[in-house]
Amino acid sequence: MMMIHYGACYYPEHWTGEQAKSHIPLMQKAGFNVVRMGEFAWSKFEPEPGRYRFEWLDPVIKALHEAGIATVLGTPTCVPPPWVIYKYPHILQVDREGRTRHPGSRCHACKNAPEFRFLSEQITQTLARHYAEVEGVIGWQTDNEFGCHNTTRCYCGQCEKAFRDWLVKKYGDVSAVNEAWGTAFWSSEYRQWHEISVPRKMPTGCNPGHWLDFARFSSDTAVQFHKTQYGLLKSICPKHFVTHNFMGRFPEVDYYALSEYVDFAAWDNYPDAAGDAMETAYAHEITRSFKGRYWVMEEKSGPTGDADSGLLGEQPEPGEIRRWAWQSVANGADGICYFRWRACLTGAEQYWHGILDHDGVPRRRYAEVRKTGEELRAVATALDGTVIKAPVAVLRSFDILWSLERQPGAPGFSYDQHCFDLYRAVRRSGHNCDIVQAAADFSRYKVVLAPSLTLVDEDLATRLDAFVQGGGTLVLTPQSGTRTPTNAMTDKTLPGLLAELVGIAVEEVRPYFHGQTHQIQFRQGSLDGQTCAVSVWIELLRCTTAQPLAEYVDGAAQSRPAITCNSRGKGSVYYLGVFLARDVLERFIAGLLPEFAVKDIPDGVEVSQRRGPQGRLVFLINHTRERKSLTLPGQYPELLSGETVGPKIAISANGVLVLKA
Ligand code: GAL
Repeated sequence: MMMIHYGACYYPEHWTGEQAKSHIPLMQKAGFNVVRMGEFAWSKFEPEPGRYRFEWLDPVIKALHEAGIATVLGTPTCVPPPWVIYKYPHILQVDREGRTRHPGSRCHACKNAPEFRFLSEQITQTLARHYAEVEGVIGWQTDNEFGCHNTTRCYCGQCEKAFRDWLVKKYGDVSAVNEAWGTAFWSSEYRQWHEISVPRKMPTGCNPGHWLDFARFSSDTAVQFHKTQYGLLKSICPKHFVTHNFMGRFPEVDYYALSEYVDFAAWDNYPDAAGDAMETAYAHEITRSFKGRYWVMEEKSGPTGDADSGLLGEQPEPGEIRRWAWQSVANGADGICYFRWRACLTGAEQYWHGILDHDGVPRRRYAEVRKTGEELRAVATALDGTVIKAPVAVLRSFDILWSLERQPGAPGFSYDQHCFDLYRAVRRSGHNCDIVQAAADFSRYKVVLAPSLTLVDEDLATRLDAFVQGGGTLVLTPQSGTRTPTNAMTDKTLPGLLAELVGIAVEEVRPYFHGQTHQIQFRQGSLDGQTCAVSVWIELLRCTTAQPLAEYVDGAAQSRPAITCNSRGKGSVYYLGVFLARDVLERFIAGLLPEFAVKDIPDGVEVSQRRGPQGRLVFLINHTRERKSLTLPGQYPELLSGETVGPKIAISANGVLVLKA
């Protein structure tokens, strides 16, 4: 039977035996079957160089095991203890401005420092050997949130050397670097490898090719660091799984590359109660898309309490913890660990609450966690073997995230937010949506949305063409095909290598800095006759083989196509030369997607589906603080209440329905 792993992040090193007495019985009562421990405990595991201690943790693992609670261990490499820094002061990271990232909090060590790598491997290996056969231990999380606190990119001398080595591997010859980056610009031609530096703070912007390769190298640094630990853990503990806790839409580490070395992905979910719940759904589906399966390794269960600002966050309203947990499961999570079990008395995160407050007394948040656990167990059989199968994908590329981070083009433009806008439009129609990389197999989808697909090579253009010719629907948006994989601008008429596929030429692009707007009018399709305002950035298109779908109706752009559709083979390509307002985008995208059974989903209600051999589970979650009504296509058993509901249903504030379809 399917088992949702359900538990919390637990820090026995924070508690005396006396304080911790009630912990395990309370966890048991809450229905926990897993905890994560140890990821910051290097100084406990190795208080002095080479002297290892396990007696502080082993009895806890044993007691948990006897209570039916398994253990996931973190490798503690995110915080090397003071003795490491004292011995090897040069392993500290350096920021872009040349300032040392000092010890005393966490994430301060440079992953390219040979001594730090050596010590990290040693502690990982030692822990793996000690715990390989310990009953109760089921898996590992490497390190903690690679890149957290802005530490993906380190600008120290060790990184400079490693960056040059990385370039040697990639280009072989320094003249190839000159060619790729176009160093003839501003007299930057390199004669020797050692003339190349990391892109520290400069008088003005650095070379985009240099920047993109540094961003790739920095991401690779984290991936290689993780891969080493993965290799050690898998070889020493073949029975255990290995994962890492990602940070949702965090843009600096290529999680697709990292996911090659995890058994399943995991992420840390701290939703903003007043924010758009689709933002959380986006992060869930990003994480799910890496491997199909995932856990939420840290799920918010109390007020946050940022170590940096020193502010105590908002208290979750009753029902919100349960709703966030169900949203995780609805989007495909197979495991949930709340962060954290109990608010700690000392340390930088004193304000960061968990299920229990500082006094360890179970109150309403504990009761809510317990109730949610009961509900999850009640639907375990129905969840068995179910996974999410999305007919639609958004292509979100890390190379493009990095390229557009430096050069967004349009004022205020965020590539990731644009990806999210398209994602949101898909979810509002009821469909789940995969988030894929450029190397994905597009043939699995009916519709692929590839927002601002700037970096394009022949291979990608060919695969997208094959997808469309085979019957797929492709949607492209401004700035598509503008660049090569080295971050150079293409010398072809835009949209560059995609021009034939899209059937247009982009004649002019116009970023607007003073709030200028244009009106466009749809001339065909589901929005025929509708007008809407566009701003920020527009492109004036000329159709070669495409048909205009919408045109500008005012200004110098008047009568020029703004949105086009090109039929190609059995499929179609839509090109948006404009950024559509959210409501228009939603309706436009809905017109391209397969029919969805639930219509007119109210704003704030999320629909998600898990499919399995025994059928489909449809989750309906009301993320608002008001009651919402909608109409289902029929009547369905609702698994949490045991009642039959529909066609007209109401979902209470924070309400969750699980329908068997
Ligand atoms: C996460 C991190 C945890 C804890 C939590 C609350 O980013 O992985 O260790 O710090 O946030 O701040």
